[in-house]
Amino acid sequence: MPDWATVKDVLVHLIDPWAFMSISFAHIPATVVGLIHDRKYRTLFSFSGFREALFGTFWATVGPNVKTNAEQRVIPLLQGRVKGGIVHDDVVSTPVHGTVLEVGAGSGMWADVFARFRENADDTDSADGLRNRKSTGGHITKMYGVEPNPISAKALQQRVKDIGIDDIYQVVPVGIESVDDSTAWDGKIEPGSIDCIVGILCLCSIPEPEKNIKLLYRLLKPGGHWYVYEHVKVWRGGLLLGLYQRFVNLIWPHFLGGCELCRDTEKNLRAAGPFQEVDLAQPADQPSYQVLPHKIGILTK
Ligand SMILES: C[S@@+](CC[C@H](N)C(=O)[O-])C[C@H]1O[C@@H](n2cnc3c(N)ncnc32)[C@H](O)[C@@H]1O
Repeated sequence: MPDWATVKDVLVHLIDPWAFMSISFAHIPATVVGLIHDRKYRTLFSFSGFREALFGTFWATVGPNVKTNAEQRVIPLLQGRVKGGIVHDDVVSTPVHGTVLEVGAGSGMWADVFARFRENADDTDSADGLRNRKSTGGHITKMYGVEPNPISAKALQQRVKDIGIDDIYQVVPVGIESVDDSTAWDGKIEPGSIDCIVGILCLCSIPEPEKNIKLLYRLLKPGGHWYVYEHVKVWRGGLLLGLYQRFVNLIWPHFLGGCELCRDTEKNLRAAGPFQEVDLAQPADQPSYQVLPHKIGILTK
């Protein structure tokens, strides 16, 4: 007798990416109207430009839901309460602190969470899940938010202002491949100057991941921490699931701003350079038949 609850859950997971893509598809009219309103006719008729604009519009509505679902893992990760893919009650690793680089910051969905880590932030409320932060010294003093999508970068700038962290948060409106190029933006991030890198669902979207993850590695101080929450290539769940993921990936990047489903991000991270410690695992509560399995954890340089 099949376990119908599991069968239903498997089907939901298989259909999930198509539901996500259809929501993006439904944002095409709003994207067209937005581009016409902003007189961006060139983007309207450019395949890659339109794809980027569509993602910016889509993520503005869908991103908050994705964040709500991810918060139960990402907030503990930033607090140093995740190890081996398991969320612990107490601090078991290093909370995010110092000079932080957020890769692919999008429209600033996580800015409110970062605001609660900043120095002198009011941390009296233990109900928000940020307990133990002060006692472990998880204080952010400076942030760079790297975001090349012009729609998202503009929203990010506004969001950090609205939240009141624009004094410590600098928007870097270029791709990660250009952060060390002072001609591409109004600044430069020196190698070895970053205490913590935070990447939330973004290494799937950057170009040339092997090369650019190495570039990020160079920016990190020795002893610095890299906080990872990424969806990755299927590595358990069988050959058929892997093939299905590759099939979905034929269409997925066009509706999701170039996001790639089948990246072996852990391999790319490990290949970036030597790490003292790599703690990456699939979140303990995720089933093996996820079409979008995740890896969560911290790498210590
Ligand atoms: C799925 S979104 C996640 C955004 C954000 N981290 C969040 O959780 O809401 C992926 C982000 O990566 C950004 N991205 C794409 N190419 C990039 C690049 N070359 N460098 C940095 N970020 C990039 C996209 O513009 C997009 O905002």
